[in-house]
This record gives sequence, structure tokens and C-alpha cells, in this order.
Amino acid sequence: MSGFNRRSFLKASMATAALGALASCAQAGSNTGMTTKPKGKSVMGLVVPKMNEVRVGLIGVGERGTGYVDHFNKIEGARITAICDPDSLVLDRARKKMADYGNTTAAYYGNGDYAYRELLNRQDVDIVVISTPWKWHHPMAKEAMLAGKHAFVEVPMALTLEEMWDLVDTAEATQLNCMMMENVNYGRDELMVLNMVRQGLFGDLLHAEAAYIHELRWQMKELDRKTGSWRTLYHTQLNGNMYPTHGLGPVAQYMNINRGDRFDYLSSVSSPALGRAAYAKREFPADHPRNQLKYIHGDINTSVIKTVKGRTIMIQHDTTTPRPYSRHNLIQGTNGVFAGFPNRIALENGGSGNFHEWDTNMEPWYDKYDHPLWVRMGKEAERNGGHGGMDFLMCWRMIYCLRNGEALDQDVYDGAAWSAVLPLSVASVSDRSNSKDFPDFTRGAWQNGTPLGIVGKS
Ligand SMILES: NC(=O)c1ccc[n+]([C@@H]2O[C@H](COP(=O)([O-])OP(=O)(O)OC[C@H]3O[C@@H](n4cnc5c(N)ncnc54)[C@H](O)[C@@H]3O)[C@@H](O)[C@H]2O)c1
Repeated sequence: MSGFNRRSFLKASMATAALGALASCAQAGSNTGMTTKPKGKSVMGLVVPKMNEVRVGLIGVGERGTGYVDHFNKIEGARITAICDPDSLVLDRARKKMADYGNTTAAYYGNGDYAYRELLNRQDVDIVVISTPWKWHHPMAKEAMLAGKHAFVEVPMALTLEEMWDLVDTAEATQLNCMMMENVNYGRDELMVLNMVRQGLFGDLLHAEAAYIHELRWQMKELDRKTGSWRTLYHTQLNGNMYPTHGLGPVAQYMNINRGDRFDYLSSVSSPALGRAAYAKREFPADHPRNQLKYIHGDINTSVIKTVKGRTIMIQHDTTTPRPYSRHNLIQGTNGVFAGFPNRIALENGGSGNFHEWDTNMEPWYDKYDHPLWVRMGKEAERNGGHGGMDFLMCWRMIYCLRNGEALDQDVYDGAAWSAVLPLSVASVSDRSNSKDFPDFTRGAWQNGTPLGIVGKS
């Protein structure tokens, strides 16, 4: 084999076969509107006994997980007790970092894909943070809960509706947390807009726009390790919105989704998939594995969600075309609108009075509406970093809630609803954009769910 190594090729072929099963599963399971019998009581608003110290096990310390080594070492009341990753290079990097923080007692596991089970068997692990490729999210989160640990899992929470239901069922059966770690909900701008919404600045909410527009073709050059080594292959198996939650999580919280409203159905369209094949042709030799793949994930996917209360959310995905980053972050109400990337606001009452023009000067808005959590922790979050501080703040907040006997800000129902856009968009795109119903993962509890209450606290 010339120009690429055999290991990459075999890894790519095996992963492609596994993804085939996922694609058909995503389509088959997506319009069933299925409900399951509860296996335990609802975990909405779940409060678990206060922990004095939160002992953290990390599974996956690659590009994302390595940041958690830093964050949890810096948070008072958190202690990393075990780390697992079968890639010795990244495991050694984590070990070295831990030593730099003075933690020499943690255990390390790296012997194969199932070494994480040894971590789950440990008595000194309270929560497990899962930062692995997507196909591992469901089995690892489920097994973590069955082992008595709270599961914290990277985005998306799972890949199919069946997996999402299974995590809901397992959380209810075990009465443990299963939180999808949507860090963007802890961004300064998103927190400020949440605060503005809660104070009624935009009036009654009507419509939101969300996105993950982030040019990531360069990740196709990652062949043996790092994100692109596995994520590229999803572009050959799924056609829909494969990564919906960064834009959607914040607007779902603005709109009290699962806490008074819920996603009802979704329709989705995808543009042609041209950019990745063109990039492969331009950047790799003709016999390179990236030139042997058929890329089918439309470069730009646009989905529209209707909520039970009739509100609408437009959500886009594009990691392929050359354009600036955006999550849109737009919320429109009867009194006006906020939009992100770049930030701007227009109000009928309460702003400049001229809602025909954007106000782009954010400083006065930050002064007045910065979220209390950001006011308290923003400087420290920015100092510790991670997407401008949002990653640190999310970790800090998780530990705070667990130590103070508060419900987490995101629960298993949120993670499932936000992630469900993935299989539902795939099903809709392959069915001429016919609408697909969201399951009600809360089994009706959304009607009485109390809106997220972090405003004014902390
Ligand atoms: N929230 C965010 O802003 C954000 C940013 C980047 C990535 N992510 C998410 O983080 C997750 C990881 O992405 P990444 O970019 O770090 O990818 P990565 O490939 O760099 O890291 C994944 C790690 O998981 C390890 N791994 C694979 N199989 C494993 C197993 N069976 N047991 C233990 N470890 C295993 C790999 O060796 C690798 O080190 C993904 O779900 C991704 O969507 C989130």
C-alpha cells in the first residue's frame, strides 16, 4: 500500500462496516414514535445525596478528554481517581499531566477497548466522564450507571432512538444521573441570553435558530488517532444532521423544552455532498483511503423542529464548506430578537427603540444581563479556558450541584431530545423530508417540568 499505512486502512474498513449497521438502525427506528414502559420513576429534577468529594473517572483522554484532566484537577472538591484510554500515547500524556498537578495515586487502564470496565469496577469512582468516539457513548454510559456511577457523556448522547431510550430507562431504573455534557449552555453569551429570556426581554418566544457551522475538512488528515480518524467515516454513512446539540442545547433551554414545552416533530433537507470528495481529491494522492470513500452527508443540512406549543426551531449542520464559524444562537420573541455570530440585538421595547436596525454594541447588555453564574465564575472560567471558559464552567457546575445536593442543569431527557435530531434528520432526509416525530422521552413529565432555575442562584 502506498501513501498511507495498512493500519489506517483496516481501521477505516472496520469502522465503515460498523457504521453501516448504525445507518440502517437510525432510519428504521426513527419514525416509530415508540414509547417504553418505565423501568423506574422519573429522574426529572433528580437530586442525589450530597457528596463531600466527587471522585472522577475519565474514559477517553483524546482531543476532548485531555481538557477534562486539567479542569477536574483545578476544581475544589473534585479528584480524578482513574483514567482509561487504550491509546498509550494519550494515556501517558494524561499520566504526565496528573503528575504535574501532584496527583500520583490515580489508576490507569489501557489494555484494550473494554479496559473501561475495570475503571467501572472501582469503588472510588463516583462519576464517569465519557469522551470517546460516538459509538461508545451508549454502552459506556449505560454500563457506568449499572455499575452505580453517574454518567457524564460527551455530545451527542447516543446515536439511535433505541440507544437514547435505553439510557433513559437505565437512568430511571438506577436513579442515577446521565447528563450529556453540552458545554455551550455555559458560554457567556448563551447564559446572558438565557437570563434575558427569563426576564422577559424578548416577550413570548416564537422561533429560534441554531447551528453547528464549523469547517472541519482538515480533520480528514487525521488517520490513526484524533477526531477525524473516526468522525470522517460518519460522512460516508449518514445523511442528515450528525452533530446537532451545540446550537440546539442553548435554544432548547431558552424555550423551556422538556419543562413546559417539548419537541414534537422535525423535517429535514440536505444539500448535495460535494465538499469532502473535492477536498480529498485536492489534498490526498489518488490511492489514499480518503479518496476511496463515498461521502454522502449533505454539506449543508437544514432541519426545522415544531414544538408542541407551536414554536419553531431551524437548525443547520455544515462542517464542510469554507465559511466562518456559527451556531446562529438566534431567539425571536414578540418583542424582539437576539442573534449571535456576531452578537446583535433588536427590540421594540427596552432597546434603542429602532428594531429595524441591529444594536451590535454588547457591552451595555453584558453589564445589565450577564448571568449570575457568569458574574460569579466568569473570570475564573476564562482563566482556565476551554472554548472561552464554557468547558471549565460546565465542569465546575457539575461538581457544585453534586456537592450541594442540587439537580443538574441538563438531564437524560434533555440529552436524548437534543441528540434525537441526529437519527430523525437522517430518517427525514431519506424520506423526502417527511416529518418524523420526536419520542416523548419524559413520558408526559415535560408538562409539569419546572423551567431551569439557575438564574439568581449560585
Ligand atoms: N463538547 C465539545 O465542545 C466537544 C469538542 C470536541 C469533541 N467532543 C466530543 O468528545 C468526544 C471525543 O472526541 P475527541 O475529539 O476527543 O476524539 P479523539 O479521537 O481525539 O478522542 C477519543 C479518545 O477515546 C479513546 N477511546 C476509543 N475507544 C475507547 C475505549 N473503548 N475505551 C476508552 N477510550 C477509548 C481514543 O483512544 C481517544 O483517545 C466525541 O464524542 C466528540 O463529539 C466534544
